[in-house]
Amino acid sequence: MVDTPDLGSGASRRGGSSPFLGIFSMRPADLPILFAWEERKPIFHEGMLCVPRHYDQHETFNLTFKEIFQNDNPICVEFCSGNGEWIARAAQNYPEYNWIGVEKQFKRTRQIWSKKQNLSLKNLLPVCGLAEDFCQHYLKDSFIEKAYVNFPDPWPKNSHAKNRIIQRPFIDMLTKVSRPKTTLTLVTDDERYSNQMMKVVSGHPRWESVEDCLLPEDYGSSYFNRLWQGLGKYIRYMKFELGEHFEATNC
Ligand SMILES: C[S@@+](CC[C@H](N)C(=O)[O-])C[C@H]1O[C@@H](n2cnc3c(N)ncnc32)[C@H](O)[C@@H]1O
Repeated sequence: MVDTPDLGSGASRRGGSSPFLGIFSMRPADLPILFAWEERKPIFHEGMLCVPRHYDQHETFNLTFKEIFQNDNPICVEFCSGNGEWIARAAQNYPEYNWIGVEKQFKRTRQIWSKKQNLSLKNLLPVCGLAEDFCQHYLKDSFIEKAYVNFPDPWPKNSHAKNRIIQRPFIDMLTKVSRPKTTLTLVTDDERYSNQMMKVVSGHPRWESVEDCLLPEDYGSSYFNRLWQGLGKYIRYMKFELGEHFEATNC
């Protein structure tokens, strides 16, 4: 049995305020742009996966995650990873899990990549691409053990709310790639979005709310966590668990 990375529910194993104690030698810019738009295709390069947008041949990517990680360890995915501070720390603290950080902006994915290189995190895979594309085309059914979305873009205007990632179509995709007992952890400072998250996920027939509280101190830090905590905002932490799937029968 491996320890469970229930970040937020127990003391972090290493402690300390900075996750990055090593000497930095790789800069984000050391990762080159991997393809021109017209030549876009899924590429695994120097430990990072690029998932092109507006692309219809995702199935051409044929590496397995076992080949990428060189092991069969359970998979945890963080969507919307930003500069990767939170997930790099998680990968350091929980080496018995494989960690995938999905971020749509290349410049931020490069920052995750440089943390991976500088900290020699073989169990961290930065993915540059949309969370929705990655979830739909790259993750297999019943595959992931834990999913996290920390401080997703809140899109506070009503007219922009349709862009929020936590909506029923995304949760349906996530359900397909999760196994029974998979947990989904959502963290946000935005009250209205947090209410929407709770409504969407706990309203889904397969997910159950198991924790709903103030962000635990030992959860791990990130740029946006520090930003909003510094402004004294209430940071809501919501954890959900996927239930068993019972096929409907006629008996
Ligand atoms: C507010 S930032 C939070 C970053 C990080 N989680 C943190 O706590 O510092 C939200 C991040 O989500 C990324 N993002 C937004 N929509 C996304 C999507 N559909 N797929 C992947 N990344 C996305 C943005 O580029 C941005 O870096």
